[in-house]
Amino acid sequence: MRRLGPIEKLFILLSVSTIFGLATVRAESHEQRAEDATQEPTSAAPSDFVGSSACVTCHKEVTGEYSSNPHFRHDHNGKSTTCESCHGPGRKHVESGGDGAKIFAFTGTGSKEEDDICLGCHSASLPAFKHDAHTQAGIGCVGCHSMHTFKSEKNMLKQPETKLCETCHADVKPAFELSSHHKVNEGALTCSDCHNPHATVDKQSPMSVADQNQVCINCHIDAAGPFVYEHPPVRTEGCISCHAPHGSENPRLLTKSNVNELCTQCHTATPNYTEPGTKPFHNQKTQSQPCTACHSRVHGSNASSFFFK
Ligand code: HEC
Ligand code: HEC
Ligand code: HEC
Ligand code: HEC
Ligand code: HEC
Ligand code: HEC
Ligand code: HEC
Ligand code: HEC
Ligand code: HEC
Ligand code: HEC
Repeated sequence: MRRLGPIEKLFILLSVSTIFGLATVRAESHEQRAEDATQEPTSAAPSDFVGSSACVTCHKEVTGEYSSNPHFRHDHNGKSTTCESCHGPGRKHVESGGDGAKIFAFTGTGSKEEDDICLGCHSASLPAFKHDAHTQAGIGCVGCHSMHTFKSEKNMLKQPETKLCETCHADVKPAFELSSHHKVNEGALTCSDCHNPHATVDKQSPMSVADQNQVCINCHIDAAGPFVYEHPPVRTEGCISCHAPHGSENPRLLTKSNVNELCTQCHTATPNYTEPGTKPFHNQKTQSQPCTACHSRVHGSNASSFFFK
């Protein structure tokens, strides 16, 4: 008789509490679950597992891509992922000639049961998943990933990534079509270059200035400093106080059509831009040069406290 792998044991534990309805209070923490999973199950035996080859005989429709599917491609340290690693013990299903009620099927409703099966193997790389905005909205692993009919080259996504995200987030799509935009629709960047689809709410839609800036700095090192003469808002208000992250009608993704309007949002009093006595180059009544024509190092400078070239 074959020894039970940890995943099969874990699955049995889940099955006991979900499918077969025996009252088990499922442990919340992963450590606890792993511990429980080592206990001998009482209602499912190793003989309840039939092995993948039995399944393949009836399910050619899902095994077409069998050899190219990452879950079956390799033998991982001597252990391979079988159909029953995800679908649970299949003997009753097989013996009944394929009774759909006798096998665990994924519905894609983001249930904890479904995600826990995936996390049984993937929790190490997805430690924060429980707090994800998507989980809270009822979108589990199967909301974005497909195990049998994936459409992306990598990561087994239901759709190529940008299309996947924009299907649900149609409201952000127009921004990527404005005259100045990050080239997401053109394929130069992806949503996940800036958003971690698996992380906490905060990191996914980076709410704190430090997180937001870090996202941008990954690609725009020049804007970040450190500088001898810092322009304080870069650090205190963040990149998105002046730039729209997805796209803008204004050049350089700026939030204002007129640079001077952007600057005078904060620089209201000194210099005074309208009163007599204002230096001619600052007088907005007579002079409409962009502020950045002179203060060109607007993110900060190592040479000039006025951010000149
Ligand atoms: C004798 C043929 C046969 C074998 C062997 C078989 N299945 Fe099935 N399976 C079926 C049929 C027929 C259905 C459709 C049942 C339905 O629609 O209610 C099905 C449905 C399913 C479903 C979907 C259930 C649902 O409710 O949508 C899953 C998942 C599944 N099988 C997995 C497996 C796995 C895993 C194995 C191997 C352990 C396996 N099958 C072996 C015939 C088989
Ligand atoms: C890594 C987990 C995993 C493994 C391994 C796995 N499945 Fe699935 N299976 C799923 C998920 C998730 C779905 C829901 C549809 C999808 O994601 O494509 C599914 C759906 C199905 C369905 C329902 C039909 C459909 O396309 O919706 C059948 C039948 C099925 N699997 C059979 C199998 C068989 C046979 C094997 C082994 C060759 C297998 N599965 C291996 C996770 C898995
Ligand atoms: C029995 C353990 C196991 C289970 C259960 C499992 N996986 Fe995996 N998964 C793996 C292994 C092993 C790999 C391959 C890693 C590699 O090739 O480096 C993998 C790879 C992946 C990949 C990456 C594919 C790629 O292109 O690199 C995704 C996405 C994934 N799994 C999602 C899921 C989802 C979603 C579920 C639940 C429906 C799930 N897995 C269930 C073990 C598992
Ligand atoms: C909102 C959509 C979304 C959801 C929900 C989601 N993923 Fe992903 N997943 C992605 C995208 C996009 C990638 C590729 C980009 C990346 O790695 O950040 C990915 C990559 C992966 C990878 C391969 C890279 C890695 O980080 O190891 C695995 C494994 C994976 N996901 C597993 C899961 C599991 C397990 C769940 C459920 C607990 C899940 N994902 C939920 C969108 C999602
Ligand atoms: C199946 C639909 C669906 C898919 C696919 C999806 N999302 Fe979401 N997403 C949601 C829902 C629902 C919420 C929570 C409600 C909301 O804030 O819009 C959400 C929340 C978010 C948030 C947080 C928004 C906020 O205001 O805090 C971000 C960022 C996000 N998703 C990005 C992505 C990215 C990037 C992808 C692709 C990898 C993706 N989503 C795929 C439906 C989806
Ligand atoms: C260049 C980095 C970047 C890229 C690429 C990016 N985002 Fe964002 N996104 C952000 C930042 C930063 C915020 C936070 C804006 C704020 O707090 O005002 C955000 C906010 C969001 C929000 C919540 C607020 C809103 O505008 O509705 C959603 C949803 C979202 N992004 C989805 C997406 C999707 C989907 C994609 C890919 C099509 C994508 N993002 C690509 C940086 C990016
Ligand atoms: C994955 C890399 C990447 C990330 C992350 C990223 N950008 Fe960009 N960004 C680019 C590339 C590449 C371009 C120029 C090419 C183009 O037009 O898309 C660009 C262009 C810009 C431009 C316009 C430059 C011009 O000459 O018009 C601004 C402003 C900008 N990014 C700000 C940001 C901000 C703010 C963030 C964080 C919310 C950010 N970027 C995150 C890659 C990135
Ligand atoms: C105080 C407003 C402000 C803040 C804050 C700010 N920028 Fe800018 N940024 C600008 C202006 C104005 C321009 C246009 C400069 C020009 O046209 O000469 C610009 C231009 C850019 C460009 C285009 C290339 C270049 O250097 O001229 C990139 C990329 C950029 N910013 C990224 C960032 C990033 C990343 C952050 C956060 C670390 C950031 N910006 C914070 C105002 C700001
Ligand atoms: C979000 C607010 C904010 C915006 C927008 C902003 N600044 Fe500033 N700027 C500051 C703060 C705060 C300081 C620190 C000195 C101060 O309090 O005046 C500063 C300092 C400066 C200094 C150096 C002043 C000195 O006394 O050394 C110059 C020059 C300057 N900014 C130019 C600009 C230009 C040009 C723009 C438009 C591209 C701009 N700023 C946009 C907040 C802002
Ligand atoms: C033709 C070049 C030029 C233009 C255009 C210009 N400045 Fe200046 N700015 C200077 C010079 C030179 C100084 C050095 C101090 C001085 O002589 O007043 C200065 C100083 C400053 C200071 C430091 C405070 C002070 O008075 O010492 C701020 C803030 C500032 N400028 C903001 C702006 C803003 C905002 C705009 C656009 C509305 C702008 N500047 C347009 C040349 C210019």
